[in-house]
Amino acid sequence: MREHVQQITPEQLTEQAQFSKLVQGHGKRPQSYYIVTYGCQMNAHDSETLAGTLRGMGLEQAPTREQADLVLFNTCCIRDNAERRALGNITWLKEIKRDRPHMLIGVCGCMMQQQGMAEKVLRQYPFVDIAFGTGNLYRLPEYLYLTIEEGRRVIDVSKEESTIAEGLPVHRDSPFKAYVSIMFGCDNYCSYCIVPYVRGRERSRRAADILREAEALVADGVQEITLLGQNVNSYGHDLHEISFAQLLRRLEDTGIRRLRFMTSHPKDLSDELIEEMARNRALAPHLHLPVQAGSDRILTAMNRRYTVREYLEKVRKLRNAVPEIGLTTDLIVAFPGETEEDFAQTMALVEQVRYDSAFTFIYSPRTGTKAASLPGALPAEVATERIERLIALQEKMTAQVLQNLVGRQMGILTEGQSTRRKSQMTGKCGRNISVNYTGGRSDHVGQIVPVYITGTGSNTLRGEYREDISHE
Ligand code: 5AD
Ligand code: SF4
Repeated sequence: MREHVQQITPEQLTEQAQFSKLVQGHGKRPQSYYIVTYGCQMNAHDSETLAGTLRGMGLEQAPTREQADLVLFNTCCIRDNAERRALGNITWLKEIKRDRPHMLIGVCGCMMQQQGMAEKVLRQYPFVDIAFGTGNLYRLPEYLYLTIEEGRRVIDVSKEESTIAEGLPVHRDSPFKAYVSIMFGCDNYCSYCIVPYVRGRERSRRAADILREAEALVADGVQEITLLGQNVNSYGHDLHEISFAQLLRRLEDTGIRRLRFMTSHPKDLSDELIEEMARNRALAPHLHLPVQAGSDRILTAMNRRYTVREYLEKVRKLRNAVPEIGLTTDLIVAFPGETEEDFAQTMALVEQVRYDSAFTFIYSPRTGTKAASLPGALPAEVATERIERLIALQEKMTAQVLQNLVGRQMGILTEGQSTRRKSQMTGKCGRNISVNYTGGRSDHVGQIVPVYITGTGSNTLRGEYREDISHE
């Protein structure tokens, strides 16, 4: 079973711990680091692991990237603009390095897993000192050691993408919200998507490892855990231990106050999971359910393996089971061959589902994917015009959805002072919508407190803290 998965052994981790000690005691080690992260939550979480690893070697976070001794770019390659932004910023740092020659620059993440990227970095970015892929992130201590001790560049993007490393140090960005990876990789091969090529085959962490991590987080005072995976609904398919719904049940037993997960593929959203969403008290009433398009023809070309009808049926079941659920989605416009009629169907679907919010993207061809060789590319003006119409429609829908929430009582996980109005506190409701509220106190930070919703802003809700009301 799972021949393709390479579990990083305790010996390999011990070896890295030794490198970590060597770096820590090294006279030439960088004193500070700065990590620039692009892309999704999974990358954000990888950056927390990179930060934990660097802190373990005695480095401290620098206030800005220009002041850091080591700058790591944790890259994303899902769309062309993510890639261009990263490359632009890396090149810009070259100028800073001219004045601060001891500065080390590292590049890691999904972009590095692309074919030919290692060679490109070697050739075109001679000022990059360290480059590694997503599967060998656990070897950062070794790379850093080789760079400072031997003064050489380390470029390691060996095809080790299908790894699982347990027990790496994590420096979490928030003391009360935490990410927990439950699976890695993706086997879906949506025709537009580069992820299966750069993040490797689908592989789940063992339930016992996930539960241990969650228990430790709860003991640490964490209020909200977001489970991460490219396709969490197929959690456990490779392990044959427990299903995703069963995992959620066990996680509820840890005593965590709020639980979220992402991303769900609609085709794998099971009735068992919907029932669990209705039953589980820790699960927040929110689901990110990317639909991508509202036309069956386009969904087939995207290899999504569901029809609009099937998708809507799942939405209906979800809302039946969890009436207060908020849905969010991802949408791609201007997929090759998308006609005005196809696009009109996407607009109609958005109007029908009434998402809380949506991430909208213009299709970006990715080398090596199936869609990249499809005919029917659309002119940029058409793509721009369509995405603008879609965004305008979603804004209208968001305003209506928010308006309907006025008068509700909600539990808000408070994050801090509102940046615009210092007298107010800000946080997130179970549906993951930002709520700014009056009457809050600084000791609410990190707590879920009852708030009465009084109005809306653009993309946000307004409310007041009310000690005496009940809330979910
Ligand atoms: N072009 C545009 N958007 C894409 N996404 C993934 N690949 C592409 C691409 N090639 C979007 C999808 C996915 C989200 C994370 O990014 O909507 O759900
Ligand atoms: Fe990409 Fe599709 Fe996998 Fe999501 S499910 S990561 S869009 S291939």
